[in-house]
Amino acid sequence: MSGALPSAASLYRRVWRVIPPGEWAAFSDDIEAILALKRERNAVILAHNYQTPEIFHCVADIVGDSLALARKAMTVEAQVIVLAGVHFMAETAKLLNPNKTVLIPDLGAGCSLAESITAQDVRLMRQRYPGVPIVTYVNTSAEVKAESDICCTSGNAKAIIESLGVPRVIMLPDEYLAHNIAAQTDVEIIAWQGHCEVHERFTPADIRELRENHPGVTVLAHPECPPDVVAEADFSGSTAAMSDYVETQKPPRVVLMTECSMSDNVALAHPDVEFIRPCNLCPHMKRITLANIRSALEENRHIVTIDPCVAERARWAVERMLFV
Ligand code: 13P
Ligand code: SF4
Repeated sequence: MSGALPSAASLYRRVWRVIPPGEWAAFSDDIEAILALKRERNAVILAHNYQTPEIFHCVADIVGDSLALARKAMTVEAQVIVLAGVHFMAETAKLLNPNKTVLIPDLGAGCSLAESITAQDVRLMRQRYPGVPIVTYVNTSAEVKAESDICCTSGNAKAIIESLGVPRVIMLPDEYLAHNIAAQTDVEIIAWQGHCEVHERFTPADIRELRENHPGVTVLAHPECPPDVVAEADFSGSTAAMSDYVETQKPPRVVLMTECSMSDNVALAHPDVEFIRPCNLCPHMKRITLANIRSALEENRHIVTIDPCVAERARWAVERMLFV
């Protein structure tokens, strides 16, 4: 990397429509420090679509949904990866880059889905349903992935399940994602009872109220939403699929039934689209801030480590997914 770094003032042009000048004043010092530290430490920042706009648009090098972050993590050349997202995403990046330093700025950035299931639960499911393949959502710990046959994300779940060529699969741990995918395939799906604490809060009544108050609004829902919410929506897909929908269909008015920062990030690329914004915050995603990204790079913390015996088996399940 060479050449002059962009100034915080020039980056503000990317986000001024969603960040008021008063708020920006508190960000510019950290942004300039992070840009310099990335160069000094040969580091890149991978940021999930739910990261706030000052992270997503101003300091991230690679952005996307869980699937894109996993795929792009495989191509990173820098020696240090900072994962602006939640812990399972940092673990996935580490699995795919065992020789690099992967940092998560806040170790408490968890996920209610990842916390809903343990490796022992997966072993018990395997005993209960012998011979039935176990497809595990990436929103899980490395220990849980290690007990699985293959991983999936919301962006590829149907393709992964159908690639196995079997009549029945176990799909862990998101019950709603499992039911939403079951509605699109002939493969029988045995589900677990995990839920995303952000998406489970949306209801069909929310959508009906939105349609009444905002005539003509196009409703996009993440497949972690309950099936009755997805049924009332106009489209359901991963965070990347929702973003692509806005890009290609250009609905005049849209609502994204998902985490709040997603609308801000997509709205910046589409000034001509009106975004209606009832949303739910993910408290885990929101633990990542410019200040702790800066500290992560300054103090080389928190280093993500995975037991090598677990890592080998978990990596296999993730890589198998990436090669479908
Ligand atoms: P995506 O894979 O769609 O980015 O979703 C990840 C996530 O955590 C959704 O809550
Ligand atoms: Fe987990 Fe839900 Fe937060 Fe995504 S939005 S990280 S699934 S709690």
